[in-house]
Amino acid sequence: MTTVLSVDDVTKRFGGIVAVDGLDLAIEEGELVGLIGPNGAGKTTTLNLITGFLDPDEGTVSLNGEDVTGASPDAVSKRGIGRTFQISKPFGRLSVYENLLVPNVSCGPAEQEARIERLLEELQLEEVRENRADELSGGQKKLLELARVLMLEPDLILLDEPAAGVNPVLMDDIMDDIRRINANGTAILVIEHDMSVISELCERVVVMNAGRNIASGTFEEIRDDEKVREAYLGGT
Ligand SMILES: Nc1ncnc2c1ncn2[C@@H]1O[C@H](COP(=O)(O)OP(=O)(O)OP(=O)(O)O)[C@@H](O)[C@H]1O
Ligand SMILES: [Mg+2]
Repeated sequence: MTTVLSVDDVTKRFGGIVAVDGLDLAIEEGELVGLIGPNGAGKTTTLNLITGFLDPDEGTVSLNGEDVTGASPDAVSKRGIGRTFQISKPFGRLSVYENLLVPNVSCGPAEQEARIERLLEELQLEEVRENRADELSGGQKKLLELARVLMLEPDLILLDEPAAGVNPVLMDDIMDDIRRINANGTAILVIEHDMSVISELCERVVVMNAGRNIASGTFEEIRDDEKVREAYLGGT
């Protein structure tokens, strides 16, 4: 097995708050992993540390065996890591199509065009291709973000709460999209509070609490874990 992502003993403090506390986390090639934990557990901070939006105070982040600790978000995305945000941030005044021209692809314009057409079709954004991004529904914005990330053909995608603000029908489509993207060989780490999404989607689930990795296993294993129950039932 090849390790795509390795987070080793990473710590991040904000003043007196230890948001991420000696975190260890690894993702193997082709895995679809869930990352869960109560509010404030440090999940989004972890994503920001992996993708170069924040620098760790301690520890290392490696992608495909190379140390990328402290690399810029642009450098991380060039190395094959894509991410979406907890709150979608498309360029609101640009059309869906124009938003997909923004990622800094390494391929030529013909391939770029072909990728855009393929993704508009695959993610069912064809009908709204000329619409301004700020006119899209919450779910369509998530799909646009996913399309934007896929423009770079990443080895690993990090999704921050893909189900938040999405109606259940569209969420079924998004789950199918996530499964298909994973089946095509892209490893995925998905942060989500909706446990039905996690249990249906993820072969392995990592649980964070108070900045630490407290459990990892199948959904059934972590659901029955005493430490996990305590983390969700209150306090830390
Ligand atoms: N930029 C920041 N400055 C100060 N504190 C921060 C900052 N970002 C996060 N924190 C704090 O770090 C801790 C972890 O926050 P984080 O957003 O990573 O949690 P989370 O697990 O993503 O929570 P949620 O499920 O609510 O999205 C929280 O106590 C939060 O208040
Ligand atoms: Mg978060």
